[in-house]
Amino acid sequence: MQLQQGILISIEGIDGSGKSTLAKNLCTELQKKKLPIIATREPGKTPLGQVLRTLVQEKKVGICPKAEYLLFAADRAQHFDEFIIPHLKEKKLIISDRMADSSIVYQGYGRGLDINMIKTINAWSMNDIKPDVTIYVRVSPNVAIERILKRKEKLTSFEKEKREFINTLFTGFDTLFKDQHNVIILDGTQTPEELTNYATEKVIQWLQNNKKIQ
Ligand code: TYD
Repeated sequence: MQLQQGILISIEGIDGSGKSTLAKNLCTELQKKKLPIIATREPGKTPLGQVLRTLVQEKKVGICPKAEYLLFAADRAQHFDEFIIPHLKEKKLIISDRMADSSIVYQGYGRGLDINMIKTINAWSMNDIKPDVTIYVRVSPNVAIERILKRKEKLTSFEKEKREFINTLFTGFDTLFKDQHNVIILDGTQTPEELTNYATEKVIQWLQNNKKIQ
């Protein structure tokens, strides 16, 4: 199946929402439908991004909120220059596990940085390109924390944050995505299969309704 143009889809949600599993499954399903899918993520897709990702996750040196945001913005700028823009030009359907909205929520709502400034720098880093569709996997902080603890992997610096911080992120995503067109809100307490089927159906519907499939 060919696309009329490149399409960018971001998947967002708090840590433990199940969005990374959904991103993977959604790619597999859409690939089965012969769509030109390409998966990516923020932070950490490019070689520079991998260095930045380790920096922000391990926090071995002090990083103030503004510097933290600018590291994510640097990752984003490199991601767009090296990966997103070239693939959009090749008319790919890009599925990104997190993107600019994570900065609005984690660094804006979460750390209290100026949201308008974040929006401005995000737009600049992204050459004014926005996701065509955003999938928001919504789960309560309780469910998310339970899942993170069950995984028993090494926690990232963000997962070690206090409960209050996670509540703020949850409210932040809800506020940001309320009444937004082109945001698909999924109930993250559904099974991975249910989530994948629903998201796949919604994406296909969006492509058809917006006449993006040839
Ligand atoms: P990662 O291990 O990729 O977590 P996840 O699988 O939940 O996406 O770590 C990325 C962390 O960085 C995650 O806790 C969210 C955070 N983050 C921000 O704070 N701001 C951002 O702009 C982005 C993209 C991620």
